[in-house]
Amino acid sequence: MTCPNILLAITGGISAYKSAVLARLLIKAGCTVRVMMTDGACEFITPLTLQALTGNEVHTKLLDDEAERGMGHIELAKWADMVVIAPASANTIGRLAGGLADNLVTTVALATTAPIVIAPAMNQAMYAHAIVQDNLAKLTRFGYTVLTPDSGEQACGDVGAGRLPEPDDLCERILTLLAKSQTPQSLRGKKVIITAGATVEAIDPVRFLSNHSTGKMGFAIAKACMNAGADVTIVAGRGVHLPTPFGAKRITVTTADDMLSACQLVMTDDGDSIFIATAAVADYKVANIASQKIKKTSNQDDLTLALIKNPDILATISHTFPNAVMVGFAAETQDSENYAHAKLIAKNLDMIAVNDVSDKSIGFGSDDNAMTVFFAKHYGMDKMVLDKASKESIAKSLVECVARII
Ligand code: PMT
Repeated sequence: MTCPNILLAITGGISAYKSAVLARLLIKAGCTVRVMMTDGACEFITPLTLQALTGNEVHTKLLDDEAERGMGHIELAKWADMVVIAPASANTIGRLAGGLADNLVTTVALATTAPIVIAPAMNQAMYAHAIVQDNLAKLTRFGYTVLTPDSGEQACGDVGAGRLPEPDDLCERILTLLAKSQTPQSLRGKKVIITAGATVEAIDPVRFLSNHSTGKMGFAIAKACMNAGADVTIVAGRGVHLPTPFGAKRITVTTADDMLSACQLVMTDDGDSIFIATAAVADYKVANIASQKIKKTSNQDDLTLALIKNPDILATISHTFPNAVMVGFAAETQDSENYAHAKLIAKNLDMIAVNDVSDKSIGFGSDDNAMTVFFAKHYGMDKMVLDKASKESIAKSLVECVARII
């Protein structure tokens, strides 16, 4: 869906001001936003503000002569690809859980077939109250997605859980849910472990050996796997400065040895596990890491570092967990197809994606990539060429390849 329709419902609460920023962020992300407001919401923020920000009329009344001629409550309910109620007050949550249809927001919630996301926001004692928790549990049972509120200092001075998340965080969560609702759930029930970024091998207390991997490719794949319904864990190098995709777990590691140990801890040997190795792992580490900074000496023009082999993470995991699906990457600068085939066989993989890292516009650090995917012989599948595209788009295609082989 290129331009999803988000119906943003604002209910009465001090955090209603954040919804104005949320509306802007959703529009910036390519959504069309229409807004409904309860009477309570209009006490905190004016419909005019939301109208100016979204460029669309704001809906406040269930029975409105003007609205009924145009975008009435049923039309609004049908128009939405997703309904987001943020902030959702204890009052609105109670009405929704009771099945009431006594204002525009509660009526649209009953009339729509679109997914409904609610972001509760209220005083911490109200949020913790058993009745509110019971209502939220009931709404979850009926298919609503309830977002966890933030904890911290509240407008009333209390400290605890019940704050509306910050708009950028809220926007990220909504976009993730939207992508998920519009993606075939081809990896539902699967557990995906992805390595990403560069490993770092110490030379002495201040220097290290590493490479240019930023983790962009691995994190794009993590997001695509989340959208396809998988449970995702990313094992990322410490130099990756990307936000963790909403809902994914992240383990940060430094060396190749750390990365292998972390992967071994989270892997399970069943047909539901998928291991995807996008990390650029140092093949060698320093044999003897100096405990003090190596000093420059006036009588020595060169310095030799002795290196020893690191474990091959992908090959080790593939041999330890033979029932899991193994997806490798290959970063090559020449003779890509032959090297990729050799790695596919040597590391006992189901699939390998090779990228030509001599082309600076793709591969390491760039926002784009281009790949050729090869499959293990027994799948009887031809190679798949993925032309140059954003890493997000390449990631979606790779997930489709994985879905085909499982
Ligand atoms: O992170 P980005 O900036 O977005 O860049 C993406 C990328 C270029 C790093 C990525 O697309 C990529 O090509 N990753 C693989 C990099 C690599 O190390 O390739 P390789 O051909 O050296 O290794 C082959 C496979 O074995 C890889 O899956 C690698 O993760 C794995 N390996 C390698 C060595 C080792 N000791 N352990 C491993 O598990």
